[in-house]
Parts: sequence; C-alpha cells; structure tokens
Amino acid sequence: MVSIAEIKAAVQERGLSSVWTAAEEIGSEAVKRLAADIQTIDWELYERQMRALRKVHVTDISRIAAPTLLPASSAQEAGHEQARSAGEAALRNGEIAVLTVAGGQASRLGFDGPKGAFPLGAMSGVSLFQMFAGQIRRLRELYACRLQWIIQTSPSNHEDTKRYFEKRSYFGLGLQTVHFVCQGTMPALAPNGDLLLSSPDRLFRNPDGHGGVYRALKVSGLLPKLRADGIATLFYCQVDNPLVWIADPIFLGHHLLQGARMSVKVVEKTDPSEKVGLVVQEEGGRKRCVEYSDISAEQQAQRNVDGGLRYCAGNIAIHAFELNFVEEMAEARLPLHLARKQVMALPKGGMVAEPREGVKFESFVFDALPLAETSMVQRADRALEFSPLKNRLGVDSIATAKHAIALRNARWIAQAKLQLLPPKGDGPFELESGLCLSAEDLHSRRKFLTQTCLGRLIKVSR
Ligand code: UD1
Repeated sequence: MVSIAEIKAAVQERGLSSVWTAAEEIGSEAVKRLAADIQTIDWELYERQMRALRKVHVTDISRIAAPTLLPASSAQEAGHEQARSAGEAALRNGEIAVLTVAGGQASRLGFDGPKGAFPLGAMSGVSLFQMFAGQIRRLRELYACRLQWIIQTSPSNHEDTKRYFEKRSYFGLGLQTVHFVCQGTMPALAPNGDLLLSSPDRLFRNPDGHGGVYRALKVSGLLPKLRADGIATLFYCQVDNPLVWIADPIFLGHHLLQGARMSVKVVEKTDPSEKVGLVVQEEGGRKRCVEYSDISAEQQAQRNVDGGLRYCAGNIAIHAFELNFVEEMAEARLPLHLARKQVMALPKGGMVAEPREGVKFESFVFDALPLAETSMVQRADRALEFSPLKNRLGVDSIATAKHAIALRNARWIAQAKLQLLPPKGDGPFELESGLCLSAEDLHSRRKFLTQTCLGRLIKVSR
C-alpha cells in the first residue's frame, strides 16, 4: 500500500503539486480519493506523454512506397481459391474469432448511445450491432462453428452496450460466445503538462484509443481462454462500417497462407481529401499506416504519371491478427497521438469544471503494423465492403451508408437472379440481417425467401 506522502512526493518530483489545491480545500477525504486516482498513473507513460507534447510532429512519407495489393475478394482471381479453402477451413475448425471496436462515442453522429446501437436498417431499423450479429449467425450456420465475438467498449458505453445486448438476448448468439472488453483510459494533460481534473478529487481521463484494444484484451484475461478454445486468428473491424464483410474467408486465407502476423484491407483512395489513413510500405518492406491528419495536403495530392494518386491505399480498418501478435502488442509501446481540444476540466485554482484547453492522448490499432514482420495488404471493393458511418449529414453519413447498403443489396439481388414481386411505394430492398453473406449465398437461399414490409424487406420464410 503506497502512502499519501509517497504519492505526493511522486507528484511533487514532477512539479505537479498544484493538482492537490482543490481537494485540499475540501478536506482529507477528497485528498484520499484523489491520491487513490493518482496512484493509478503510469509515470513512465506520463513521461512519454510529456515527450510527445514537446515533439513537433511531422510525418514525411516521401521515402516510402505504395504497398503491393492483392486483388479484392470479390474479383475473379485464380489465387483466391486456395485462400478461400484455407480461410474456410480455419472457420470450420473454430480457429477464428471476430473482434469489433465499438468504444468511440457517436458524437459526430449526434446519437445518444453506443454507436453500434444506431438504427440503420432501411425498413426494419436494425442496428449496426444487429447487422453484425446477423452475419455472425450466418457464418456459424455455414461453417458449423461457434464463432465467438469480442466487442471492445469504453468506460462511457460499456454498461449501455452490455445492457443493449442483454435486452435483445444477444441476438440469439448466446451469452457465452459474446464478450465485452472495456478499453482503458489515459490522463489528459494541460498544454504545459499539468494533470487535469474533472472534479476536485478526480483526474480527467479519456479512452486510450482503439489501440487500447491490445491491452484491454490482455487485462480482461480473455486471451488464454481464446487460445484454449483453439482460436489462433482474430478478424478485426470497426463498428461504424455497415458493409464490412465479416470474416471474409479469402482475406483470412491469404493472411494465413502468407504467415502474416497482421493484415489489412484497403480501398483505392481517389479523392486526396478523403479522411482515411494511408497504408504505405517502408524501405525494408514493412507496412505502416499514416493517419490523414498527419500528412500534408500536398503529399496526399501527389499523383503518378497515369493520373492516379501516388498514395492510394486507404485504410478501412479491417485487419486479421495472429493471436500471439495481439498478446505481444499488449506490451508494446505504441506511439501516442495527440488531440488538442477543449475539455471540461477544473481551471487552475477553481472548483467547478469549465471548458479549457487540454491535450488528449490515444494509441491507434494500426500502429502495430510496422511491428509485424510479415503482413498482407488486400484491396477491397469499396461498393461492397466500405461505407463508414461517421456523421449525421454530408459525407460518410446516415444517408450515404443507407444508400451504399441499398446499392450493394441491389447488386446482390441482380447477381443472385432473384424473382421478386414488385414492391409497393418507393425505397430500396432490405435483406434481413443474417440472410446472406454474398450474392452466391443469397442465390443458395432463393427458394426459402419471402417479402414483407410492402415487399421491400426480404426474409427467409419460417
Ligand atoms: C478511422 C481510422 C482511419 C480509417 C477510418 C475508416 C483512426 C485514427 N483512423 O478514422 O485510418 O481510414 O477509421 O473508417 O482510427 N474507437 C474505440 N475506442 C476509441 C476510439 C475509437 O473503440 O478510443 C472505435 C470507434 O468506436 C470506431 C473506430 O474505433 O469503431 C474508429 O474510430 P474513429 O474515431 O471514428 O476513427 P476515424 O477518425 O473516423
């Protein structure tokens, strides 16, 4: 047990003693509570935060090349067959689990609740979580496996997310196979490095970024359980991409056949201002993802002689991980990314939180990429696999995501040659969550389908 005096000494050593002022004014109990909070500070991390604060951040990608991309899984490609067999075998053998990061706040979307609970289904209003759950159910049926689903939450939405699933009986997936792992937090700092307080007896913290998932998995104790269940590979995706092709067997197969430790899917970036990170290749062949905010507009706009963007591999945050690699990354010191923002924190000498300048620190999942000795990069067909839901209106919004789902459905329906009754009124077709994973899968179910909701919702007849 560390004494308050020792905690105070550690704080004083770093010139941070003003952090006690408000708590001391209230009394010894407040000081004790604050001391207990400060005791959890990882001072080595704090030193790294300070170094990151002082460093001028410039990313130069001029000596970096575009990576070699494998063709999209939807492309007719001879090499895909072997990969598909390998991926399907891994699914059948129960060696894969799905990991979805859902810890972010849906603030840009203006939605009060976990982003995964956002209702996006055109007719049914099903949520992102339900869309994902449907795919997982279908994968289980097709590969006769127990496919487990790990959902990363954050302290601000952990309980709400769990409750959301409980209320809906885990969408029939079973309580034992859906795991919620809460990411950690990092203390935010004032621009001069002072600790910030959200109240006199509490530090101001923010979620540690999706890169916190490695540590969160380790701390949760889930990794040994997954290993004991025979899982060797994780399929990773973000909750905000309703088109994600969960556990795409071709992607997983290439990852496995190449002995990759971490793989990534990318879309071709055509608009230099599109807000996606860029996957690039370093001189030794290792890959790296550079965040859009870290590259100058000039570099992003550089073009090849054929007119295409020089750096065009847009990260869509879909990965495959070797489980051992995830465990190693839990101990790695991934870079800290800074966000200078207005935060609700106590002003110096004040007792009540108000907006003030602060610096939040996060780590990013893709910063593990250069630490992977082997990695594979595969192209994705944007129209089939990527339509992020970030904003309420405009680009990457509710309307664009719904439109992308409708177009993908129309393409699958046409390819599956479904004989549909003409629907009433306007609006797109919706495929019931979990109905199918691809046009071929839809075709295989054509004899068991029924149309409801004015003929626009296509379901399996039961
Ligand atoms: C992210 C990627 C970007 C990629 C784009 C694709 C970063 C920094 N950039 O952009 O390279 O091209 O997605 O859509 O991530 N999350 C957590 N915990 C956190 C923060 C986020 O779980 O602490 C989750 C969110 O719930 C979401 C995902 O991570 O599912 C992405 O977070 P977001 O902040 O929306 O990333 P973007 O900046 O939009």
